[in-house]
Amino acid sequence: MEISLDINGSPERLSVEPGVTLLDALRERLDITGPKKGCDRGQCGACTVHVGGRPVLSCLTLAATVREPVTTVEGLAPDGELHPVQRAFADQDAMQCGFCTSGQVMSAVAAVEQDVPDVREFMSGNLRRCAAYPNIVAAIEQARSTDASV
Ligand code: FES
Repeated sequence: MEISLDINGSPERLSVEPGVTLLDALRERLDITGPKKGCDRGQCGACTVHVGGRPVLSCLTLAATVREPVTTVEGLAPDGELHPVQRAFADQDAMQCGFCTSGQVMSAVAAVEQDVPDVREFMSGNLRRCAAYPNIVAAIEQARSTDASV
């Protein structure tokens, strides 16, 4: 089937099978590799992107069902200047290998924009293997003190 997507402000037309996930459409068809395939079953958060400004798990989202603009981590810094949340992650050393970082950043941006009361609870769907959880919370708190709108 033919689908149209708005990805980071760019219109894209794709021919996909109905069962193709947004994650696979992004990574394998559009070469947008910021969203990572960790578990591919909705358990790790590595594939998190924004659809219509809300964080979603792209591995559980069928590309053909997407009607609103999609933002991936690549779309946070279109002019090369880091988004305040990305800057805060760097400042707070909130990453190690980096595999989960793009998903963490996308959820963190939503946490900042929504001014969530419980950052740890909000971020609980994004897993990591290293011990940088406190650094991520610190990064989100730092970003909250700056203009973190996308
Ligand atoms: Fe989507 Fe793990 S790859 S939640």
